[in-house]
Amino acid sequence: MAQQDYIVIEAEEDGVHVIGLTRGTDTKFHHSEKLDAGEVMIAQFTEHTSAMKIRGKAKIHTANGIIESAAKAK
Ligand code: TRP
Repeated sequence: MAQQDYIVIEAEEDGVHVIGLTRGTDTKFHHSEKLDAGEVMIAQFTEHTSAMKIRGKAKIHTANGIIESAAKAK
């Protein structure tokens, strides 16, 4: 697979989860990373990862712009 752009996830509260989902016939969680407020994760889509789910309040910087996810309902 060609080299993919990096995505930057910037947590804006404690306990933000970045969840990687598998590529292929089955779409399953394969990795979950927990970020606290101010922590940043830099990630790519790969041959193993086709999608990412972000839970919690974060800024997601992509080549297509910045997306803001909302805080979890409590
Ligand atoms: N081993 C995973 C992969 O190569 C690591 C990974 C890459 C990942 N991008 C991710 C994990 C995004 C979670 C979210 O695909």
